[in-house]
Amino acid sequence: MWGKEIERVLISREEIAARLEDLAADIAGDMGGSELLVIGVLKGAVVFLADLIRKLTFPVEIDFLAVSSYGKSSVSSGVVRITKDLDYDITGKKILLVEDIVDTGLTLSYLLGHLQARQPELLKVCVLLDKPERRQVPVQVDYAGFAIPDEFVVGYGLDYAGRYRNLPDICVLKREVYQSSRS
Ligand code: IMP
Repeated sequence: MWGKEIERVLISREEIAARLEDLAADIAGDMGGSELLVIGVLKGAVVFLADLIRKLTFPVEIDFLAVSSYGKSSVSSGVVRITKDLDYDITGKKILLVEDIVDTGLTLSYLLGHLQARQPELLKVCVLLDKPERRQVPVQVDYAGFAIPDEFVVGYGLDYAGRYRNLPDICVLKREVYQSSRS
């Protein structure tokens, strides 16, 4: 149904839902009761953010940032460009930055610098997926859903060339589909 490019399910929708309960409990334990602004990185974090905030048992506000993506390639260029900035002024606010995946760490590292420069009171980071083997720069991650191996994954918000964001499970893309664009 999802086509020939998908190899297998890596993390099922049920596993994601269960892990979200734990993540939300940890976040609520640390930041519940305070005025929290949850910032999602477009477009990959949309599905995760939408599910995560509905597991939080206190009111939050949301905002979004967009950064330039890899396009059709799956290689991080290291050059990050903000294509949509925040609507809110975050100075003095408590922030939870929500990202789909941390791979080399270059995107998150840039975004954290960008946000810290605006002097929020607190800045925590929640990522759905972490590929520790691929890290090029150390980066702050306070809450991580799943550590995964060095494979290209799609679904639950993550795409390949714009496709598969609406796939409910996290799936491995066939290596031959993306290896030609990766060093
Ligand atoms: P980093 O800058 O290398 O950490 O890359 C972070 C960004 O790369 C993520 O926000 C994704 O957009 C993209 N990315 C990295 N690995 C994958 C993957 O396996 N599937 C889909 N997108 C990925």
